[in-house]
Amino acid sequence: MSATLSCDTVWTAARLLPMTVPGQPDAVIEQGVVAARDGRIVYAGSAEAAPAFAAGRTIDCGGRLVTPGLIDCHTHLVYGGSRAGEFEARLEGASYEAIARAGGGIVSTMRATRAADEAGLIAASAPRLAEMIAEGVTTVEIKSGYGLELAAERAMLRAARALGSQMRVSVATTFLGAHALPPEYAGRADAYIDLVADTMLPALAAEGLVDAVDAFCEGIGFSATQVERVFAAAGALNLPVKLHAEQLSNLHGAALAARHGALSADHLEHCDDAGIVAMAAAGTVATLLPGAYYFTRETVLPPVAAFRAAGVPIALATDCNPGTSPMTSLLLAMNMGATLFRLTVAECLAAVTINAARALGRRDIGALAPGLWADLAVWDVAQPAELVYRIGGRPLHARYWRGQ
Ligand code: NIG
Ligand code: FE
Repeated sequence: MSATLSCDTVWTAARLLPMTVPGQPDAVIEQGVVAARDGRIVYAGSAEAAPAFAAGRTIDCGGRLVTPGLIDCHTHLVYGGSRAGEFEARLEGASYEAIARAGGGIVSTMRATRAADEAGLIAASAPRLAEMIAEGVTTVEIKSGYGLELAAERAMLRAARALGSQMRVSVATTFLGAHALPPEYAGRADAYIDLVADTMLPALAAEGLVDAVDAFCEGIGFSATQVERVFAAAGALNLPVKLHAEQLSNLHGAALAARHGALSADHLEHCDDAGIVAMAAAGTVATLLPGAYYFTRETVLPPVAAFRAAGVPIALATDCNPGTSPMTSLLLAMNMGATLFRLTVAECLAAVTINAARALGRRDIGALAPGLWADLAVWDVAQPAELVYRIGGRPLHARYWRGQ
């Protein structure tokens, strides 16, 4: 006889996919129940083993699949303007790198972002976030990196925080001051890195705007040595790091990130064995971004089989950004992860729940277990594979963020 458990909400008749054991496709609990109190899960498991509940409300899930709310762990969701014109230029043969070197690319979005104020950035970005929410996303990471000066980076991060307080979704902010060299620092990249590491990051961190620190380690971005400077500054502030690594070439960014205990290294198409071994040893998540792979027509695949063999956890994200992945659909990213990268269904599901939580350094989201936030997605699908299989459609039946 178990005692009665008092709670705010009980979800019954759920086919539960708790994601507490990543990579196990058959872990669906057919007759599942979830109970929450004060926004946190107090029970998730089979109806048979459940205690008696004294609940404020009971929600009958009607036998639907219930998963943790989805987590988009790598986005550049807040920005001004559009790069549709650049897309047209690429269709006529210009490369992403050539456009960037000619002053377009990230710098063109920088101009549009600097021209918008915080309210303008919120207005431009809220519809993108609403599209994610409509697909069951309950946590989204949002990077700065289109301001490239203190005031505009601050406006981006404040806009991200404001979206999180307005829209019933958790927002994790990442400072990406080292995303591209702003034109006023042309030929003075080291001086810009000094500004990022010594001025911008400490100021924004002191304002509570920074949950993690990222950089773009690339020929058109910053060198490994420059990234080290930024990571050292993050370390001094006790902030976790992550890295855009090995997207267009191999500058050994994955190993660098792992050396700094990075939460994740992201993109990784050009990652080598040394990077994989280092990531495995450090527990660094490989965040794969198939939308950017697809949209830039990259031809080198990320070494998925080697990540799998080495036991590197794999996350998937939209990389929502105006230049290389103008995509808000995390479900499409799952489909692309399977179709383009050959991830299994179980890997795709873990990649947007428990492993995406790890990529944000979070243990309180990404699975359905006592103590975690009651972030739930209820789906109109017969089996988990349908979440990965479908292209388009809106399979979400209901979404609960912190129990509401
Ligand atoms: O993740 N690689 C760098 N950052 C983005 C692209 C940014 C842009 O082109 O605006 C990415 O792909
Ligand atoms: Fe990115």
